[in-house]
Amino acid sequence: MNSFSHPLFQEPHSRGIRLWHWLLFIVIAASITTVGLATFGFRTASNIPLVQEELQQKGITADEAAARAVSHAFNDKLWTWHTWLGFGIAALILVRILLEWAQPKEEKLRTKFRRVLGFVPASELEGEEKKHYLGVKWTYLVFYMMLLVMAVTGLGLALEEVRFFRSIRGPIKSVHSYTQYLIYGFVLLHLTGVIVADNGRYPGLVSRMINGGRTNKKDAS
Ligand code: HEM
Ligand code: HEM
Repeated sequence: MNSFSHPLFQEPHSRGIRLWHWLLFIVIAASITTVGLATFGFRTASNIPLVQEELQQKGITADEAAARAVSHAFNDKLWTWHTWLGFGIAALILVRILLEWAQPKEEKLRTKFRRVLGFVPASELEGEEKKHYLGVKWTYLVFYMMLLVMAVTGLGLALEEVRFFRSIRGPIKSVHSYTQYLIYGFVLLHLTGVIVADNGRYPGLVSRMINGGRTNKKDAS
């Protein structure tokens, strides 16, 4: 079944990385959901007429300022959730750094890079696999950098009481806002990549991110 790819590219994943990965998936998905809801469904200006209409049906007339305050409260709540989830993302970045440091040597990204860089392909197909593997690992490194930018700028926005952060809020917000598109780009590329890979030359790729892959390896040998 796994004969499509060289065993070197059928990597097992430590329990720490797997747990970390799925937690990151949940927190980032929730964070993006808050952005989507706050930007589209719960936009302050778009819900003012709705608040006025609902109150009107209860016999209360609310002027625009009062309706705006109610509508804004829901939008604000979503940004508060976004900020808390953001603290979670920042904590997970820290955990990822600690994991890299605490993992067994063969699980470290650096070792994986070195091992594959030193691999001499015996065929054109293996050469392609090597190139693909290194490309994928590079996208992870770039993604970690982008996530770090999101966390640093996000923390800068969250700490608005600090005068320094308040004074550069505009530029911080712009960087945070632009970098979001790179994050969406990575998520899309990653999801497409793992689905195509699992259906093609790397069957069991997603399962290995769930079960670790060590037992599969034993079965195969
Ligand atoms: C998946 C990663 C993230 C995405 C896609 C994202 C996206 C966004 C977007 C689109 C905004 C609105 C910016 C604007 O109004 O121009 C925003 C605001 C904000 N983000 Fe993030 N963000 C992410 C991660 C984080 C992290 C890690 C933190 C850290 C705490 C954070 C904290 C904040 C804060 C405090 C605001 C301002 C909220 C407000 O206006 O009250 N974000 N984010
Ligand atoms: C918000 C969504 C997601 C993000 C941000 C994300 C992020 C990442 C990162 C950073 C890695 C590399 C971990 C490392 O070795 O350092 C990774 C690996 C992986 N992810 Fe995701 N992931 C997401 C969703 C998913 C989903 C939904 C699946 C399954 C359908 C998945 C399957 C995998 C697999 C199989 C690997 C290992 C691939 C390999 O060995 O190159 N990911 N992911």
